[in-house]
Amino acid sequence: MDINSVYETIENVKSDIQSVSTKDDLEEFRLKYLVRRGIIQQMFEGIKSASPEERPQLGKALNELRQTAQTLFDEKKRELEQSRTLTADKLDLTIPGRRRPIGTKHPVTQALDDMTTIFKSMGFAVALGPEIEDDFHNFEALNFPADHPARDMQDTFFLDETALLRTHTSPVQVRIMMNQKPPIRHIMPGRVYRNEAISARSYCMFHQLEGLAVDENITFAELKGTLATFAKKFFGSGVKYVFRPSFFPFTEPSAEMDISCFLCNGKGCRVCKQTGWLEILGCGMVDPNVLKAVGYDPEKVTGYAFGMGVDRTALLLYGIDDIRMLYENDVRLLNQFS
Ligand code: DAH
Repeated sequence: MDINSVYETIENVKSDIQSVSTKDDLEEFRLKYLVRRGIIQQMFEGIKSASPEERPQLGKALNELRQTAQTLFDEKKRELEQSRTLTADKLDLTIPGRRRPIGTKHPVTQALDDMTTIFKSMGFAVALGPEIEDDFHNFEALNFPADHPARDMQDTFFLDETALLRTHTSPVQVRIMMNQKPPIRHIMPGRVYRNEAISARSYCMFHQLEGLAVDENITFAELKGTLATFAKKFFGSGVKYVFRPSFFPFTEPSAEMDISCFLCNGKGCRVCKQTGWLEILGCGMVDPNVLKAVGYDPEKVTGYAFGMGVDRTALLLYGIDDIRMLYENDVRLLNQFS
């Protein structure tokens, strides 16, 4: 064995590794070069028969051979392992998709969203207020007399002497007017609370959508036009409506708006109690006392306000006959509103 045959073997090692493409090929390579009975070890044995002058050079070359073979083997091994995981993890684009479970909007949220969209399209901005209120915003500034029955413990959840859970969204009107100057055109959606016996028709918590417009020369005609447009967009263009005189402490004059029952088309059914009409909201011109309480001059500005219940409307719209179902969070009910 001479030094040239060592360099030749190095070249062979390099070309052999090129043709390794499987684990079996690699094993063949290992058996050929790297095991005890392999070519390289055998060549090391040959050192013994070389002359003492040749040995150092031969040893150096053989070490280079062994190093090369081992390095190339290690590299190839890593390469093969990597390509195996790449094949295993390969994305199969032909697999049918997996559907992600998507939640549905709660019917009340859906109704609120639809109402909000309609009022926004008419130029109303959305404002929110706190659910924990005080007597001033919830009652006093809204012109409730000191002995008004609505302040009774029966209706209001008091938290302590001064704090209470708002019984309607009207206190947000007071907050907006005390915070900014006219012109004002806002809707105020939110939760309200009343200490009432829970039944199919009433719950201790529900939702209202309040509206307020204040500016110079705002008229009752504008209030009617706005609410009529809303009703047609929300309930359908064929809906009929009527404004009945009513009373609220914070509006003068006051009215309630009824729409023709969309379940029986006004013929009379169980839901509209055979009247053909459904009451959907209260409204009126902002009482001068309220304008004064928030620091406005009733001689200069006028306004209208309205407030509608959202939950009852959602129940009617979706044909649910028990308000408690809205708050049981039973997915069998909620899933139906996709
Ligand atoms: N706040 C009243 C209620 O809870 C509803 C209401 C009536 C609001 C007339 C108004 C309004 O803004 O003008 O019953």
